[in-house]
Amino acid sequence: MLNGRKVLLVIGGGIAAYKCLDLIRRLAERGATVTPVLTRAATEFVTPLSVAALAGEKVYTDLFDLTDEAEMGHIQLSRAADLLVVAPATADLLAKMATGQANDLATTLLLATDKPVLVAPAMNVRMWEHPATQRNIATLKADGVRFVGPNDGNMACGEFGPGRMSEPLEIVSAITAALADGPLNRKHVLVTSGPTHEPIDPVRYIANRSSGAQGTAIAEALAALGASVTFITGPADAERPKGVSVIEVQTAQQMLEATQNALPADAAIFAAAVADWRVANAVNSKIKKDGSGNMPSFDFAENPDVLRTVSQMAEGRPQLVVGFAAETDDVLSNATAKRERKGCDWIVANDVSPETGIMGGSENSVTLISDAGQETWERMSKVDVARKLATKIAEALA
Ligand code: CTP
Repeated sequence: MLNGRKVLLVIGGGIAAYKCLDLIRRLAERGATVTPVLTRAATEFVTPLSVAALAGEKVYTDLFDLTDEAEMGHIQLSRAADLLVVAPATADLLAKMATGQANDLATTLLLATDKPVLVAPAMNVRMWEHPATQRNIATLKADGVRFVGPNDGNMACGEFGPGRMSEPLEIVSAITAALADGPLNRKHVLVTSGPTHEPIDPVRYIANRSSGAQGTAIAEALAALGASVTFITGPADAERPKGVSVIEVQTAQQMLEATQNALPADAAIFAAAVADWRVANAVNSKIKKDGSGNMPSFDFAENPDVLRTVSQMAEGRPQLVVGFAAETDDVLSNATAKRERKGCDWIVANDVSPETGIMGGSENSVTLISDAGQETWERMSKVDVARKLATKIAEALA
């Protein structure tokens, strides 16, 4: 699958560096050649000897190794690979990359390369969420750097949240996607997917029947055409797509925030079934029956409309914005009006009446509405709808 592909792996100085040993093994199993570069800090976490043994290649650790400069200059080293991967990408490395620093071998290679770069961040949750890191990430995304992870979870520092480095197989999928030659190479596409959960109290929420299957298939189809995909999903049943950067959210408000943080993008596809309302008087402790027969009553507040917000951005709007219209009645006229109201370029209309079996099922029957008119596709699997849509998106961005 990765036969003959050359990966230059920059290992950063973080506890997650140990996962790179497995990553190298997995890449080698798939036929890739891995040239490892360790930052000085990385050598505190993994030894050059173990990295060299697994990679079966020379390990580079220092810019000022004159023998290596004679053997292979750093410029040449940065360009001999098909892809540069940074794992773990620490907050420090991301900051250096975002500001174009080149004060050691790793950062010099990253600045000198003309090849795509994929980073797998790993850091403490506060460091990840810090505005400085988020600014650096936005800069790197705008520069075309691809991201895989980080995941949510327990961290070595004892905290919980986003910041855990993706697992080796997730990074392998992202590498495979990054190396996929396709019309969407170097394009960043954002996809929202799944339902949102709007809390009532800590144990109850309002949700809908979206499985996330269509959004997941779209993300995978876009990645297969070479796109760098940011996939923002509510709590969906569908397995997460491979080879994309996944951001998990619960509520519509979080989905809007994650979407705004993930921009800029060349295209944005809004396949999520976002809850239109949230409970305005949600509470932090479980609502109890009080025995009097009185029912709780809820006030609702309207959720932000993610699609409309992005469609109507005055600055930095993606070139192509695609919405979905899940309707049960007057599908095409409702969807046409929705496209106008929201201001998106295309709308994919589908009938989600229970008898169609579409919501939660594996097939879809859609009509694509754009300036060019309406195009009804025969009923097909959600995977095929995704492939057809991804091809059209690639044509539109060409
Ligand atoms: N959408 C969104 N944010 C919302 C609601 C909807 O981004 N708060 C997006 C969906 O992802 C989809 C499109 O808007 O791409 C239409 O969603 P849909 O639920 O069909 O429409 P609504 O906006 O809810 O409109 P209506 O209530 O008229 O059906």
